[in-house]
Amino acid sequence: MVYSWYQEWLDRKNRYARTDQVFADADRFAEIAVGIGLPNIVQKSTFSFRNVKDGADRFLGLSQSGEKPYARIYTRLGNPTSEHLEKVLFKLDCQHIIDAALAADEKKPTIGTLVFASGMAAITCTTFALVKSGDTIISGGVYGCTDSFFRSLEKFGVSVKFVDTTNPESVKNALSEAKNPAMIFLETPDNPTLYISDISAISKLAESYQIPLIVDNTFATPYLQQPFRLGADIVIQSMTKYVNGHSTSVAGVVNGPWKFVSEHLFPVFKDHGPTPSPFDSWLNTQGIQTLHVRMERICDTALELAKRLEKIDKVERVWYPGLPSHPQYELAKKQMRKSGGIISFELKGGFDPASNLMNYFASYTTPMELAVSLGSAISYIQHPASMTHSGIPEKDREERGIKNGLVRLSTGLEGTECLWAAIVEGLEKSYS
Ligand SMILES: Cc1ncc(COP(=O)(O)O)c(C=O)c1O
Repeated sequence: MVYSWYQEWLDRKNRYARTDQVFADADRFAEIAVGIGLPNIVQKSTFSFRNVKDGADRFLGLSQSGEKPYARIYTRLGNPTSEHLEKVLFKLDCQHIIDAALAADEKKPTIGTLVFASGMAAITCTTFALVKSGDTIISGGVYGCTDSFFRSLEKFGVSVKFVDTTNPESVKNALSEAKNPAMIFLETPDNPTLYISDISAISKLAESYQIPLIVDNTFATPYLQQPFRLGADIVIQSMTKYVNGHSTSVAGVVNGPWKFVSEHLFPVFKDHGPTPSPFDSWLNTQGIQTLHVRMERICDTALELAKRLEKIDKVERVWYPGLPSHPQYELAKKQMRKSGGIISFELKGGFDPASNLMNYFASYTTPMELAVSLGSAISYIQHPASMTHSGIPEKDREERGIKNGLVRLSTGLEGTECLWAAIVEGLEKSYS
C-alpha cells in the first residue's frame, strides 16, 4: 500500500512530531485552551462572496485574507465557528509540531484538522478516505459502533482483522498475514476494558508497511496523551465526551497529515456532509477551556474509587490503568499523564447484580445517571454487554472480557466521597 501523501509525512513526522517529551507542557496546554478565546456563533448556512473572483478562488481552496477558504462558502464545507474550534484542537494536539516546523522554516502546513458532527463521522470518513476494495483494516478492541462499522465494510470488499493490539507481536503477525493492509486503528485506553496499546511500537510496524496508524484518543484526550509525539499518523477524538464535558452536543475531530486531510479527507467530508452545527462547535470551544482542570480532578477521583473498588469482595475484577494490577500499568504510566476517568469492574454473580446496581443509579436520588456516553461533569454508569458493545458478536465480546457482570463507570465531578458512599450503598442493595 502506498499513499501519495505518505513519504512527505513520514519525513515530517520524524523531524517535527515524534518527541522524547511524551506529554504537552501542562501550563502551555492551559494557555492555548483558554487563551484562544471564544468565537462568535456564525449560525449561517451560506456566505456572500466579495466578487466572482473571490467565489471562484474559494472553490479552488484559495483565500485572500488568510482564513480557511472553505469556511466561508457554505456551512457543509466549513464555518467560521467550527474553524475557530479546529484551530484550538490543532494547537492542543500539535503545538510542538507547529513550533518545530516554524523553526525549520517550513513553508507548507504539516497537519490539518477537521471537525465532524460526531466521533463516528470522524471515524467513518477517515476510513473511507483511506481504504478501497481488497484492503484489510487491522483493528484492536474498539467501541461497539466502530467495531460494527468496520465489519459492515465487508460488503464493499474491505476486510477487518481484529487483533490484540496490546501485544505488538499480534499486530506484526496480522500485518504479515493480511491481504493489502491499509490502516491500523486502535483505541488506547480501549472502550470498555481500558487495555493500553503501545503507540510507539505499533507506529514502527505501521511504517514498515507505509500505512497510517490511527489512534482514537477519546478516553485520554490530548491533555493525558499526545499520540503524535509517540509516532501516530492520524488522531481522532469523539468530542462528545471529555472535550464537551457536559453532554450538551455530539461531535468529533480528526488531526492528520496536511496532504491527507486536505486532498483525501476533505473531499469525503464535503460529499458526505457530516458537518457539525456552528452552535455545537461553539459549545465545544467553551468546553475545551476547562478540559485540563476537569481531567485532573476526574483522574484523581477515578484512581481513588478504583483502589477502593479493588478491595470490595463483591467485585471480581477492576479494570483501571492506574492500578498496579492492570496488565499494562507500566506502559500507561509511560504513555499517559494520568490514568483517565473510566473504571470498568466486573461484579461477582454476573448480570443480575450488575443490573441491580445500574437500576440503583437510575434513581434521581443517587449521584450518577444510568446512561451511555462518558466524560461529563455528571458520572454515568452503564452495561457494555447489553448497551454500548451489544453489536459485537457474543463470542468476540466474551474474549475481550466484556462479560455480563461488567459495568463501566464514567467518573464525573461530584466528588470522591459522594460517589463512594453511593457505590457502597448500591452494591449493598444489589446483593440483598
Ligand atoms: C472511544 C470512542 N470512540 C468513538 C466514539 C463515537 O463517538 P460519537 O458518539 O461522538 O459518535 C465513542 C462513543 O462512545 C467512543 O467511546
